[in-house]
Order: sequence, then C-alpha cells, then structure tokens
Amino acid sequence: MENLTVIVLAAGGGTRMRSKTMKVLHPVGGRSMVGHVLTAVRAMEPQRIVAVVGNQREQVGAHIQELVPHALLAVQEKQEGTAHAVRVALEAAGPTTGTVIVAAGDTPLLEGESLRAFAAEHEAAQRAVSILTGLLAEPFGYGRIVRTAEGDVEAIVEEKDATDEQRAIREISSGILAFDAEFLTEALGRIGNDNAKGEYYLTDTVRIAREAGLTVGAHTITDVTQTEGANDRVQLAHLGRLLNDRIVTRWMREGVTVMDPATTWIDADVVLGQDATILPGTQLLGATVVGEDAVVGPDTTLKDCEVGAGARVVRTHAELAVIGEGATVGPFSFLRPGTRLGAEGKIGTFVETKNAVIGVGAKVPHLSYVGDAEIGEGTNIGAGTIFANYDGVAKHRTTVGRHARTGSNNTFVAPVTIGDGAGTAGGTVVRRDVPPGALAVSSGPQRNIEDWAERKRPGTPQAAAAAGRPAGERQVDPGVGTPPSGETQS
Ligand code: UD1
Ligand code: CA
Repeated sequence: MENLTVIVLAAGGGTRMRSKTMKVLHPVGGRSMVGHVLTAVRAMEPQRIVAVVGNQREQVGAHIQELVPHALLAVQEKQEGTAHAVRVALEAAGPTTGTVIVAAGDTPLLEGESLRAFAAEHEAAQRAVSILTGLLAEPFGYGRIVRTAEGDVEAIVEEKDATDEQRAIREISSGILAFDAEFLTEALGRIGNDNAKGEYYLTDTVRIAREAGLTVGAHTITDVTQTEGANDRVQLAHLGRLLNDRIVTRWMREGVTVMDPATTWIDADVVLGQDATILPGTQLLGATVVGEDAVVGPDTTLKDCEVGAGARVVRTHAELAVIGEGATVGPFSFLRPGTRLGAEGKIGTFVETKNAVIGVGAKVPHLSYVGDAEIGEGTNIGAGTIFANYDGVAKHRTTVGRHARTGSNNTFVAPVTIGDGAGTAGGTVVRRDVPPGALAVSSGPQRNIEDWAERKRPGTPQAAAAAGRPAGERQVDPGVGTPPSGETQS
C-alpha cells in the first residue's frame, strides 16, 4: 500500500509470561508470535516497517531482522507505555506522512487480509484514528471501547482505569490502530501518564482526536480471534489451539483427510498434498511437506520432513528426514537428521537412522541402528543390525552396495564397504570390506557336543526332554544333579 508505515511494538517485558524468553518470541504454530504479526504486516506491502524493541533487544531485534531484513529497528530503552513506544518509532523513522498502523507483537492470529481491509476503510473514511475492535465474551484485560449514546467512539479505557460499568463493555480494542500520520505526531506530544499504570497510553489518542473534533472510527472484525493477544501462557495455549483449528480446517477444505482435528497439530508453514490422510495424535511441525495420498499417523511427529506421495508413516518420530514416494516407515521408528529413504523403501520397527541414505526399494525392516551409512537400491538389511559408526573418538561411514543381502544380528564396524550383490551370514561382525558378490562369514564353524544335556544336566526337564521322557519324571537322585557354575536358575 502507498505511503503506509507500520509500527510493530515488541519492546515490552511480557512479565505475565514469567519466562526467560521474551513474550513476542514465544512460539505458536511453529512461528514466534511476532513472526505471525510480521507475516500479516508484510501481506499489506507497506512502504516502511518499524519494529520497536527494548527488552532483550539483541535477540528480538535479530529475530525480526532475520524475518524482515528491511525492517527498521527502533530502540525503546525504558518501556513507558505504548504511546512512548510509538514516539520512539517515529523518531527513528523521521518525518512521516500518510497512514500509520500500529500493531502489537502479541496478536499472532491477525491476518494480512484483515489489516488490509482495516487500512483501506481508515483511508476511505479520512479519519484521524481508526481502531480495530472485536466483541469478546471475556473482555478482561483489554482496553474497552466506550461509545456515545449515538454510537460514536468516545474513548478507549484500559482495564485498570475502567469503572465497573465500563468493565462490562464487551467491545475491546485489539491494540491495532490506524492513524493519520500528522495527527499522530501531534497527538503523541499531548499524552500524559496520569493513569493506573503510570504509562503513556497510545489509546489516549482517541480522546484527543475527539476533543479536537476529528473523526474517530472503529472497524469491528467478525473473527474476534484475530484480535486476541497472549499476555500469559494460558492465553498462549488458547491461541495455539485456535490457530491450529484454523490451519487444520484450511487443509481439510483443501482436500486433506484429518481423522481427529482435536489431536492433530499442524504448524503454519506445513504443506500437505491432496488426499493425504493424517491420523490421530500426529504433529506436523516446521517446514514439513507431505505428498499426495500419503498416510501419516497415528501418533507420529514429523519436524522439517519431506514425505513423498503415497508413503505410509506409522507411529514415528522424525526430524529433517526425507521419505521417498511409496516408502513405508514404522511402526516405532526414529529418523534423525540426514535420513533419506528412497522410493518404495522401508524403515521398520525399532529402527533408528541418522545421516543414512537408503536406496530405492531398500529395506531395514527390524531392530537396527543405521548411522552414517549409505545403502544401495534393492538391498535388504537383516534384523538386528548395528552400523557401528563410532570408534570412541570419531564417526565413520559404512557403504552397502546394491541388491546386497545381509544376515540377521550383524555388526558393521565402520569404515567398511559391502559390495554390490554381496551377502553376510547371520551374526557376522564385518570389519573388512566385502567384495561384490562375496559372502562374509566371521563366526567360527559350529560344533555339536553329543549327549551334553544328559551328561551335564542330569535330572532336569532339559535332560528328560532330550531322552524323549516326560519332563516331570525324575530318573536320578535329586542330590546328584547339581547345576554347573555360571548357570542362572529361574
Ligand atoms: C494493549 C492496549 C489495550 C488493548 C490490548 C490488546 C494500550 C495502553 N493498551 O494492552 O487497549 O486492548 O493491548 O491486546 O495500548 N509495548 C512496547 N513498549 C511499551 C509497552 C508495550 O513496545 O512501553 C509493546 C508490548 O511488547 C506489546 C504491545 O506493546 O507487544 C502491547 O503491550 P501490552 O503490555 O501487551 O499491552 P496490553 O496490556 O495487552
Ligand atoms: Ca497484550
């Protein structure tokens, strides 16, 4: 929008959060609260964005600059109220004309489209001040909109300064205000701090405009959730739930099946394909992308993962992993960063992977650890295989070729390479490279000691079974059959 300056207030301490982390940095839906506000603000394409920082200004400032590199940062050394914060912003911005919108950093459900409509109405009506308001069932804590008998906005009264009668008003200020820049600059100089909090309230601009006979108006938003601010963690959780409902509903309308919206959590930046199915107890976090027809869940957490079309991911915890088209993962799999499973591949039950590239159609079906490894296409890794990547000092890589068949209960001591089409016998400890097509065997030949049970375990059910007798029948004096040392008895 032309000649529009947006000021985002993010200097307050957020004491009601009782947190080491600044309020506006608290995440909700996978973004910081101020990150959501900035997303809405950017959608208006304003000429200028000024962010006011104060408490923990290094962290907050760096965060804002990362999200919006062209934002101007204004530092409010002491937090003396929202009007003071806006004064600091205008001083940093220099002479300002046109429209100024002030938004708080703690209203994460605000949407760009609402801001745009609000600004457009404000400009069309040529008002000095416009307030974005909402009707709340529980208005506690908000500034209330006091209107005249004719319905004109007269003032905003803060909770702490309100009379009982005013506290009963359900129309609240979202804290988002639009101003004519000249009026704002002038009015800021006339705001005092003679109120319950001893702060300079931006909301006093309404009374000042009215007294000067200027137009003040309110734009009441139908979706009141957009005006809600989070001052403490109870409100934060409440807004998190509302945001999640909004996101889940949007994806269902886009053609995604969500069996249980109440236990499905989807972050704001997640992308889901058509006809994907999300089963109960699933969290899709960060920049996760799920392809068409994929089925995720139940009870699965995916953070910054990519799931290919038609893949199936059951009871899995994964982070920074790529799951190929038509692949299957789980139940009970743990995919750590750097896992890349090829199309139609499989990571099965009780398998942990890390920095592991598993080829097209390759399978690690049961009870294994695959760390720092590459497994070629079509290869099958036997149950209970450990890729021993760590020698106590450094990590090493293991490479397994294409269409290899490795036995159960193997240990691959890295660095080691198992060639294309190679095999390993059950129980092999692979310490040296296996050439393509070879079979590696590391355990010694098996010896069978005949009649061992009868000689060493006389009188036991084991010996009886070995001799073809019922196990309960004792043939030998019980005193004779003492168990050999080193034997556990149950
Ligand atoms: C404010 C409004 C209230 C509105 C509510 C909506 C005022 C006086 N009150 O109250 O009418 O209903 O928001 O959520 O404006 N901040 C600064 N510097 C300061 C003080 C605050 O940058 O000196 C920032 C805070 O970091 C926050 C925002 O301004 O992002 C609002 O401050 P907060 O203390 O949350 O105000 P509320 O009491 O919620
Ligand atoms: Ca607030």
